[in-house]
Amino acid sequence: MIRIRPHRLFNLVETPSYEERLVKIVLPDQRAPILLDTAVLLSLAKLVQPNAYFEFGTYLGVQLLNIIANLAPSARAYTLDLDEKSAGKAEQHENDRPLTLEHLQSQDKLAFRHSSYESQITRLFGNSNTFDFSPFARRMDSFRMLSDNHKGCIAWHDYGNRIYPHLKTYLDELSETRDIFFVEESMVAFYLQNDGHLSAALKR
Ligand SMILES: C[S@@+](CC[C@H](N)C(=O)[O-])C[C@H]1O[C@@H](n2cnc3c(N)ncnc32)[C@H](O)[C@@H]1O
Repeated sequence: MIRIRPHRLFNLVETPSYEERLVKIVLPDQRAPILLDTAVLLSLAKLVQPNAYFEFGTYLGVQLLNIIANLAPSARAYTLDLDEKSAGKAEQHENDRPLTLEHLQSQDKLAFRHSSYESQITRLFGNSNTFDFSPFARRMDSFRMLSDNHKGCIAWHDYGNRIYPHLKTYLDELSETRDIFFVEESMVAFYLQNDGHLSAALKR
């Protein structure tokens, strides 16, 4: 795992003016994502400029709203979460179950519902362990979905979160064969595809 200080990533986002560094973020409340993690994702979005974004775990939709509000209007986002049926069958960590229940109870209150970004978002329902991802193959930024000819990025959340030690073990193993970066003080780890220039700059 390649550990980097947050400013190493932020400094790679070069803009001609501070105005072009402005981003739009939902002011956090007690259930919103951590601001540093959001800043990391938005920096990656500025560097990669994805036209398609896939999120595993919608929860209350706040992070998706943060992302889509800062992508081009032509960008499309897909977000997958459990529905009542798949949630009933899913094996979950005891800490995850309350989040799923909150998600299920918030269907009409998801952050992006009735927002001006809703038309850019497609909701998907099911268990990520059994979901059919084939329509997204090579169009997105998870290893099987990564596009061949466009810059791409996979970001994982909860790296270093003691509640999920297996995630750290998994990513540490994966990082033996690929360049995976962990942004210190955040819980975000990421991989960049088709962008040797950025990866090399981060490793310097
Ligand atoms: C920590 S929350 C995601 C946070 C969210 N991206 C945000 O805005 O901050 C985790 C979400 O993943 C969902 N989830 C957990 N296990 C899942 C699975 N196997 N398949 C799909 N979604 C799952 C939960 O229902 C929950 O809404």
